[in-house]
Amino acid sequence: MHSAFDASPTKPAIPITFVTKSTWPEILATLPAAAKAFATANGFSGKPGAWLALPDVDGAIAQVLFGLEDAGATHRDLFRPGTLPGLLPAGSYRFANAPHDTRLAVLAFALGSYRFGRYRINEAPKVKLVPPTDIDIAEISRMAEAAALARDLINTPSNDMGPEELAQAAKDLATRFGANFNCITGDDLVTQNFPLIHAVGMASTRAPRLIDFSWGDPAHPKVTLVGKGVCFDTGGLDLKPSSGMLIMKKDMGGAANVLALALMIMDAKLKVRLRVLIPAVENAVAGNAFRPLDVFKSRKGPTVEIGNTDAEGRLVLADALALADEEKPDLLIDLGTLTGAARVALGPELPPFYTNDEDLALDVARSAKEQNDPLWRLPLWAPYDAWLDSKVANINNAPSGGFAGSITCALFLQRFVESAKSWLHVDIYGWTPSAKPARPEGGECQAARAIYALLSQRYG
Ligand code: BES
Ligand code: MN
Ligand code: ZN
Repeated sequence: MHSAFDASPTKPAIPITFVTKSTWPEILATLPAAAKAFATANGFSGKPGAWLALPDVDGAIAQVLFGLEDAGATHRDLFRPGTLPGLLPAGSYRFANAPHDTRLAVLAFALGSYRFGRYRINEAPKVKLVPPTDIDIAEISRMAEAAALARDLINTPSNDMGPEELAQAAKDLATRFGANFNCITGDDLVTQNFPLIHAVGMASTRAPRLIDFSWGDPAHPKVTLVGKGVCFDTGGLDLKPSSGMLIMKKDMGGAANVLALALMIMDAKLKVRLRVLIPAVENAVAGNAFRPLDVFKSRKGPTVEIGNTDAEGRLVLADALALADEEKPDLLIDLGTLTGAARVALGPELPPFYTNDEDLALDVARSAKEQNDPLWRLPLWAPYDAWLDSKVANINNAPSGGFAGSITCALFLQRFVESAKSWLHVDIYGWTPSAKPARPEGGECQAARAIYALLSQRYG
């Protein structure tokens, strides 16, 4: 069980009563006279996010009141209880009544307990929740553990999270679940025909690599996950300005989320043959860096002209997707922090997803909503595919003009997927710019939970 939960507290757990503006008068009426006076004197009115600890006759905490949006509000933040671990004094608590969505509230509590502790003393959570008995706490714990893994990997700065360290993290995960691990490193990428991964990663002193592990019964449906593992994105010779480079340690957010998703799949023993592919590189600047207008032959065959060295994510994914596609998976999913355009269109909290599989699109949208892991479909708009044409090669990695940048990136990737029965691409942000309930500032788990839940419904 996740460390934010306490199944058998030593002292009776303190009840948390959820109130809304409209339920507050009834709840107030049930309180003992002193508590009623205390709540009124403190001006508590059940505003969303507001909280109050009510004392008992000895001055201990008798119960906690916590405000939520009204049941009929246009927007209810179902993760609002995720602020509780950061608000409450140490102790064990329980829900006295039901929040709007108990399962998501419990998950939010665990997600809100996360702290990035690698470089400071990280104490185990001191605010604990006695989980309600009617929810699957193992499933919630699994999701919270996966989110913490993704967040830790993204939050770890690039000096401690290069291609090698990312590969080690993948290997640790693979080993834990008995998966078959392999990694192709440095010049072997050339001899084994991954020219684009090599081209992007070769300027770094930290060798590029392709991480590859497989798990599960080979007879089960083949699900392959591909994650963009750009451990730092300077932009390459098309160098980013310092403002744009600042949080580029998060450019391996696709890889981090693919590992989080793999953790959940393997821990829940879903009936799939899982394969995880992560091209891990650093997009660095050096004399041997790849250049604008260089041309490379891709693994799949088409030649790629480099319109912009900062459109590196789609290049490394192209070779990894081509490899994935070779074994005709039933479902091929890639995640990556690919475009600033996705953030311009939908902001940091709502990653766009792309697929031509209508059933899959419905499942993804529904699952995203159910898990409060929001995703929004954008189209693989075929008429824009022509924008990828190059005058000297088969395809250009960065169409001039910059219109619909997330869509043209998705269309670029689509050129490398042919045999997979179904393909899903998600252009994630992987980062929470300013803290929200259950979402501390920094690296974020995006799309992994929504996709896991849908896989669990299909292959559980
Ligand atoms: N890693 C970036 C995308 C990114 C930038 C994500 C900022 C989130 C915030 C990616 O490698 C990139 O630089 N993309 C370019 C593509 C362009 C050159 C076609 C972009 O979005 O500007
Ligand atoms: Mn880039
Ligand atoms: Zn990038």
